[in-house]
Amino acid sequence: MLVSCHGLDMIIAIVNQKGGVGKTTIAAHLAMWLAERGGRIALIDTDEQQTASRWLSEADQHVRVITEHRADALIECGPGLSETFDFVIADGPANLAESTRALLLVADLAVIPCGATMPELESTSATVRMLRNAQAVRRSDLPTALLVLSRMKPTRYRLTRDAMEAAHALGIPVARHSIPAREAIADAPGQRTAVWHLGLHARDAADALAMLLEEIETYAQESTKRIGDPHGGAGSLPASGAKAA
Ligand SMILES: Nc1ncnc2c1ncn2[C@@H]1O[C@H](COP(=O)(O)OP(=O)(O)O)[C@@H](O)[C@H]1O
Ligand SMILES: [Mg+2]
Repeated sequence: MLVSCHGLDMIIAIVNQKGGVGKTTIAAHLAMWLAERGGRIALIDTDEQQTASRWLSEADQHVRVITEHRADALIECGPGLSETFDFVIADGPANLAESTRALLLVADLAVIPCGATMPELESTSATVRMLRNAQAVRRSDLPTALLVLSRMKPTRYRLTRDAMEAAHALGIPVARHSIPAREAIADAPGQRTAVWHLGLHARDAADALAMLLEEIETYAQESTKRIGDPHGGAGSLPASGAKAA
């Protein structure tokens, strides 16, 4: 677990062109999780439905919410925000390819959530392609990437096992922890809080989410460190363009 996240100034984009895969669920919970650990956190809400904005504006944790979906503005504001905040979490849009590309150009880590079904995994390959293109444009392994399976059913079901194989076949690391399908997780935005504040009935969902968020947090730090200094290490372009000077 992170003891102190001050000074990390990292951008984590939660992206998938497909809607309903768990982007907002992960983005809002990750932002609240890091804020509860003392981090200065900003969340960029790129979705016109503004679910994350409404959710976090009434939540107890202090997360600065910025609503922005225009691609150029995202490229311009991301790096500046990351200088002010320890983590900038971007809740990616559905079906706004330019905005998703923009996030991939400024992010240090792309978390790609995906339902554990074959159609969702197949359509996620379009987002993986965008990720590869962004890495090529940046001439870097940034953003690093992590695929997260969401709304998981028990692995004994044949479909889920096939989905696990298809997830690995996408060619990016798959998070060890996934998000189980749980009522409490669907209930959290309406309650304007994190699932771990919903009481005993949500305990199992909260534990699962906590393990995933801890994994994302650790992966964010370790994967970008492996590549080198994310802000200008040899062989890779800076993670955040505005800091190149
Ligand atoms: N693990 C889960 N269990 C139950 N419901 C979920 C889970 N993850 C997401 N949902 C619900 O599914 C819907 C889509 O999730 P959301 O995070 O908004 O996806 P996206 O941002 O990718 O469109 C929401 O109503 C959300 O509450
Ligand atoms: Mg969303």
